[in-house]
Amino acid sequence: HDNGMARTPPMGWNTWNTFGCNINETLIRQTADAIVGTGMRERGYQYVVVDDCWFNPNRDPAGNLQGDPNRFPSGMKALGDYLHGKGLKFGIYQVPVDRTCAQYFGAYPGATGSRGHEVQDARQFAAWGVDYLKYDWCSPEGSIDEQVATFARMRDALAATGRPIVYSINPNSIHAKTGPLRDWGDVANLWRTTEDITNAWDTGQSNGYPMGIQNIVNVNVPLAGYAQPGGFNDPDMMEIGRSGLTDTEQRSHFALWAIMAAPLIAGNDIRGSSAATLAILNNADLIAVDQDPLGLQAIQVAGDGTRRVLAKRLADGDVAVALFNQGNAATTVSTTAAAIGKTGSSFTLRDLWTGASSTTTGAISATVPAHGTAVFRVSGGGTTEPPPTFRLRGEASGR
Ligand code: DGJ
Repeated sequence: HDNGMARTPPMGWNTWNTFGCNINETLIRQTADAIVGTGMRERGYQYVVVDDCWFNPNRDPAGNLQGDPNRFPSGMKALGDYLHGKGLKFGIYQVPVDRTCAQYFGAYPGATGSRGHEVQDARQFAAWGVDYLKYDWCSPEGSIDEQVATFARMRDALAATGRPIVYSINPNSIHAKTGPLRDWGDVANLWRTTEDITNAWDTGQSNGYPMGIQNIVNVNVPLAGYAQPGGFNDPDMMEIGRSGLTDTEQRSHFALWAIMAAPLIAGNDIRGSSAATLAILNNADLIAVDQDPLGLQAIQVAGDGTRRVLAKRLADGDVAVALFNQGNAATTVSTTAAAIGKTGSSFTLRDLWTGASSTTTGAISATVPAHGTAVFRVSGGGTTEPPPTFRLRGEASGR
């Protein structure tokens, strides 16, 4: 979506994965302070997204949305001002149907969705200083055509405010239906590609609730052709720094999100981030891979059901390569410089976890623990033009 936003995948934090409906302005402010204090802001994490359950279950007499007076007694504008004062940006959640998921499932009262209020609500968000809207289709109803038309109405209402606002949509809530099958690039900056993530490696779901890390990777990898500056596949907010994943799995999660050009939206309690968590979230080399200006999502150049090789062309001619071991025992994962679109006879491999550099005449290989991902930045030589294995939007086939 060409609104000038999300030229690279947005980075930030969202309340939902850790806090669900248990949110308030103190939590958001403390988290904003922690994003600054942990160095995350300097690394690029800037959008602080307040998910479901922030609102008053009743619109005001003029039909305007209002913040929940108990959770956000200072008001939403004041919250936006606080975030902006910290050098951060303000994100908020809403639905294009009658009820948010919390309302749909009865965890929260009211029916305050934006259907029929798009222009008024977009103006309200802009007046509060909102910089990012997460717009979540939380209803089992609605044809794909209805979804497209409804999501497009808010796209246009946001544009009409004149305020730059990242537009993030989820066509998948409640039922994973048409989301992954359509290119949403004409509608939004980000589109969720799967059902909700959870803090587990494997929930056995192909695309049902809830999704483990590897289940999401399976869905999201084949969608690489849709990614470009201004429009990215969204494999959901991160589970790094929460329970349920080993350190190896958390590193895999981050490396794979980075090479898939995913939005890097942390979902942990930043106030309690351990050094180990921050070493992952603040890995500058992997963030640079995610934020590369070409905006390409890695494509899979080899895979045997256990070992997967993902490669992402970068703007300076380097190629990032992930050697992902999806199996349950350590194994060697290998590829070559030629297979990832490099030409020449001598290359430097930078290990993006250790920072160590080595040279190779073409072989790229690592012993990778179960569920692990080795990731290298490959420089030197040239690049094949056009890169045979890198498809831009529109050239992707088979969908
Ligand atoms: C479903 C979305 O997929 C989640 O990320 C979260 O926004 C919840 N809805 C909130 O109800």
